[in-house]
Amino acid sequence: MRHCLPPLRPNSRLLLRDLPADLARRPADWRAAALALEQAYAAAHGGGEAILVPSGRDGLRFVLAHLRRPGATTVIVPALADASVLEAIALLGLKAEFCDVRSDGTLDPDRLHACVGPHVLAVIVVHIWGNAAAVQRILAVTDAAGIALIEDCAHAPATATPDGYLGTFGIASFTSCAPFKSVDCGGGGLVLTRDLALADAVRRAAACHTVASRRAVFMRVFAVWLVRGMTRANVYDAIGHRLFVGLGGADAALAWYKRWIRPFLKRDADREDKPLPSLAFLRSGRRQLGELPNRLVRRQRLARKLLDGVRAGLLVLPAEGVSAYYAMVVRTADPLEELTRLIAQRVDAIASPMVWMGDPATAPVARELAATTLQLPWCDDFDDSDVQLLIAALR
Ligand SMILES: Cc1ncc(COP(=O)(O)O)c(C=O)c1O
Repeated sequence: MRHCLPPLRPNSRLLLRDLPADLARRPADWRAAALALEQAYAAAHGGGEAILVPSGRDGLRFVLAHLRRPGATTVIVPALADASVLEAIALLGLKAEFCDVRSDGTLDPDRLHACVGPHVLAVIVVHIWGNAAAVQRILAVTDAAGIALIEDCAHAPATATPDGYLGTFGIASFTSCAPFKSVDCGGGGLVLTRDLALADAVRRAAACHTVASRRAVFMRVFAVWLVRGMTRANVYDAIGHRLFVGLGGADAALAWYKRWIRPFLKRDADREDKPLPSLAFLRSGRRQLGELPNRLVRRQRLARKLLDGVRAGLLVLPAEGVSAYYAMVVRTADPLEELTRLIAQRVDAIASPMVWMGDPATAPVARELAATTLQLPWCDDFDDSDVQLLIAALR
């Protein structure tokens, strides 16, 4: 069985095709590619201003920095979220306050009332695993309290719901273009807003960041080309992704990476001011965005097949038609044991990369979810035989 993971979404041949233009470094070409991605992203949400930023968390930081006002020192975050959201809040000297989630992992609107107050600057909703949060009900609370709503669309870019596109309900939203996200530029992110002053501020903040150096571009494209087909572990390692917790893959290949590839890439990935994605990756990201609707249809078909094949209650699928199908959520009493079992069967998995935060008394649902959830990524290049193997492994 090939690994139950997408090899590496940005097509390596397409990346290599764009590499010469990237290395030749014509600023006008880069600007055109950045603008094309921004416009495509805005169009995929029915309009607005989209701005390319160095990462999702930087996008959030730029938005919060603009909204900041005296006396409002707290940002409300779902108690099951990505640690990077906290990083953005902490870097601004703001305080995160945690609100419990519903059983689908998204912010619970009924719990929000108790959290809001004049000390709150913004509420962040995370459309976690591609599940649409109850944005209308959350908006009713934030609007009444005069608090800004920011949507984290890292798991749900360009996702339509009957009420409108996710990412268009609050004052702004952001997505991540990190490796393995649905729009993967090898790094970077996008902010979306209809507020022109906010868009200007984010654009100015993003403009302080440089474009990836020629060396970094070459090494990243080389790494993509090299690792295509290898395991997620190796790829994450090669690009220095810090949130990686999955396992698997050939030890020898991993050691080779660490010795020969990672030292070159790490310096770049660790830089405090992360560069914006290079031209080749921007073009690749834009192609992925264009293909996203078809990919979602495939993911949904796969989801139904999987659900039919495994025992009831094991897989938790989102409501029909309102999901980005970013991740397959497996509920199990012992995620670590399940993870070990899956890896032994050559199914790569990620064990609850979302962290539970807050007080067990005030966030019991988030705590329970974090303790009982295993996340498998949706695979755009699965075929039916992979689905059957996955069903067998998940039994
Ligand atoms: C839900 C969620 N929010 C925010 C982020 C942060 O994105 P980035 O890594 O581009 O800063 C991620 C990415 O890992 C994520 O999964």
